[in-house]
Amino acid sequence: MYGCDFLEFGCTTLEGFFFEINKYDYRKAMKGEMIELENINHSFEIGTKKHKRKVPVLHDIHLKVEQGEILSIMGRSGTGKSTLLHLISGYIKPQQGKIMINDTEVTHFTEGEWADFRLQHLGFVFQNFQLIPSMTAMQNAELPLILHGVPEAERKNKVTDMMKRLDIEKYMEHYPSELSGGQQQRVSIARALMLNPSIILADEPTGSLDSENEQSLLHFIKQLNEEHGITFLIITHDEQVAKVGHRTLLMKDGRIAEGGHAI
Ligand SMILES: Nc1ncnc2c1ncn2[C@@H]1O[C@H](COP(=O)(O)OP(=O)(O)O)[C@@H](O)[C@H]1O
Ligand SMILES: [Mg+2]
Repeated sequence: MYGCDFLEFGCTTLEGFFFEINKYDYRKAMKGEMIELENINHSFEIGTKKHKRKVPVLHDIHLKVEQGEILSIMGRSGTGKSTLLHLISGYIKPQQGKIMINDTEVTHFTEGEWADFRLQHLGFVFQNFQLIPSMTAMQNAELPLILHGVPEAERKNKVTDMMKRLDIEKYMEHYPSELSGGQQQRVSIARALMLNPSIILADEPTGSLDSENEQSLLHFIKQLNEEHGITFLIITHDEQVAKVGHRTLLMKDGRIAEGGHAI
């Protein structure tokens, strides 16, 4: 059991033994940093040529997400949460600081390097699902496989399996406009999982869901984390959603206000 025994822990009581086992499991899951941001600062430039002005959005961000962790980041609208996620996914380049993902420094990646890296390591889930309206559920979900050069027969099998898992196989030929919010989010999750990402970045993933679909998504996140070890970074302004995280950080005015302890 757990590859360890009573003696290995050197504990003298049964209670102590279970305490040590919990710690042992925790250590096993935490094998190092999956995402590490060092001293990230970011401003947007707005206005026309003559009246350009810098709007600082992120200040001195230091952040570590451990492998196998679900980290929730909470904060009011406009505090820079999505900007932070766009930096971690390479859609915005940091003006200062360093970003490491899965032991790779990605700070100075080119567009092409980012595109490959995203496909291999990252899955995305968004509030507005970001499905392509002119494509069916099946076609939307298989997009990462096409980009990765997976042959058609294998693509069909993989998408069908995933859709069965998510209980949406009946809707494969439906277009996004013919699906409910909950069904659209499942299609977007199928797409996110298609290439077995080690990290899923979720920006307000339950923001457009009713409470039943919200609960089922949170349950699925836990399951993916526990059974497949997927690391999650979840942005939300909803405390109930944040609770799915092992840890919750609070963002305020472009800074991480809470120092990384469980709240
Ligand atoms: N592309 C952009 N150009 C200029 N300002 C932006 C841009 N994107 C976001 N901002 C500004 O940056 C701030 C943080 O935005 P955002 O990261 O979307 O916040 P949140 O996700 O926490 O609601 C806001 O004041 C927003 O207006
Ligand atoms: Mg946002």
